[in-house]
Amino acid sequence: MATQDAADGAEGSGAEALRESTPGDRPPGPDGLPLAGNTFQFLRDPLEFYDRCSAYEDDVVTYRVATSDGVMLKHPADIERVLVTDDADYRRASIIRNALGQIADGGLFLMEGEDWQAHRTALQPSFYRDRIETYADMMARFADERADEWRGRDTVAVSEEMRTLTLEILAKTLLDVDIRGQESAIRDAAAAISERFDAGSLSAFLPLWVPTPVNRRCRRAVSQFDESIAEIVAERRASDGEFDDLLSILLDLDLDGDGDGGGLDERAIRDHLFTFLFAGHETTALTLSYAAFLLANHPEKQARLHEELDEVLGDGSEGSSADATRPSAADLFELDYLGQVVDEALRLYPPAYTVFREPTRDVEIGGYEIPAGSTISLPQWVVHRDDRWYDDPDSFRPERWTDDFRDDLPEYAYYPFGGGPRHCIGMRFALMEAKLVLGTLAQRFAFEAVTEPPLDLSMQITLQPEEPIDVGLRER
Ligand code: HEM
Repeated sequence: MATQDAADGAEGSGAEALRESTPGDRPPGPDGLPLAGNTFQFLRDPLEFYDRCSAYEDDVVTYRVATSDGVMLKHPADIERVLVTDDADYRRASIIRNALGQIADGGLFLMEGEDWQAHRTALQPSFYRDRIETYADMMARFADERADEWRGRDTVAVSEEMRTLTLEILAKTLLDVDIRGQESAIRDAAAAISERFDAGSLSAFLPLWVPTPVNRRCRRAVSQFDESIAEIVAERRASDGEFDDLLSILLDLDLDGDGDGGGLDERAIRDHLFTFLFAGHETTALTLSYAAFLLANHPEKQARLHEELDEVLGDGSEGSSADATRPSAADLFELDYLGQVVDEALRLYPPAYTVFREPTRDVEIGGYEIPAGSTISLPQWVVHRDDRWYDDPDSFRPERWTDDFRDDLPEYAYYPFGGGPRHCIGMRFALMEAKLVLGTLAQRFAFEAVTEPPLDLSMQITLQPEEPIDVGLRER
């Protein structure tokens, strides 16, 4: 990944320099313009900028973007300190608070302190394994029905298809709403917000009230989303039916433990739903799209996956029904290679390409003093491709994920779901969904290469392909 340019710029840094540095020295980093710092380099191509930073040998790299001092940490031990050991010294970075806070400041993602703890504890049981497994059948069925729609097609824009599918699955699990085949305020809001927070465009750095066309589109989509959610919540409150989805949990949430439930007002419910919908669908859709893209471009790996699926689930050739060959939550224990494919896709193309934090006091990391308020970036994009932890790091090798390899890997050399107390609450949900959907689709089709590597990527809220990813389809 290291570019020659960046490596030249890194002269004088390196592990030795790190060891000899004294607190107060500024970590190395790309030269920037006075005032603007590295903003223009960053805006022009955020991923290239990350790669430049990663080319410094030092594990701590500094830069300036907009008005903020940026520090990138590349060593798993430093990442573990920030996320786990010294977690109490950090909070959500202001670039995240300012951006997402304009849309949903009361959701779990942005809450801090006791408030966050109370909500996280109350919501956690909805993400326990036994609870999530009750969604498994629906997830595989939705994927199977999508596969029915694909019959007779040569090519699909898999990135678009997966986004629709994961949103349909999440709307069903969160709200018990079936948005399949419908125009949806939820879908429009998702698209407008992604566009608004594209890190490679100036709009990501402007407040939402500035009346640019992108901001106007975003505000309109959010207000339609709000209307649609308000309707769903009002209908639910008026209904005396039995529901078993996340909305019912939110409506009954008993934060003060007095047994009365009903602790959340409409705004808090809306902010939580918004957060789950947005944190949950795009990330999982990207995991699936990148996995399909990787399989399509590595036929020998795909053949191994097909072999495993046929062995565990049956290949349908003996007249078994679709219901019987569709994977279940229990089958996932036997589908090791499927799990390895998903893990490897998340390594190479982590949808959350960095985690941001901000120290609330001056801290010392890697021998450097980092002032309170700096924006600390813990970039999965960089760490997951570091050849200190991964042989041939840019290659797609699902079989690298043996038990021994996992045991030997430093704890935070792989963290697609973050870590510490703020790790992704939806991790199990996402992994189960990704495996069930990919397993179901790969059971029905062989993917063939249409979009080929290298992928053009763009850093939006998540790591997005610049152009839709297309894969060819061959029915099996
Ligand atoms: C492959 C899919 C997913 C990836 C890669 C992913 C990644 C992440 C990461 C890296 C974080 C930590 C961010 C930080 O510490 O700053 C996070 C937090 C979070 N994720 Fe996920 N996520 C995924 C799926 C989901 C799903 C399916 C849901 C919900 C249904 C979800 C809900 C959340 C929430 C609410 C938080 C904030 C948790 C807290 O602060 O307590 N995510 N996710």
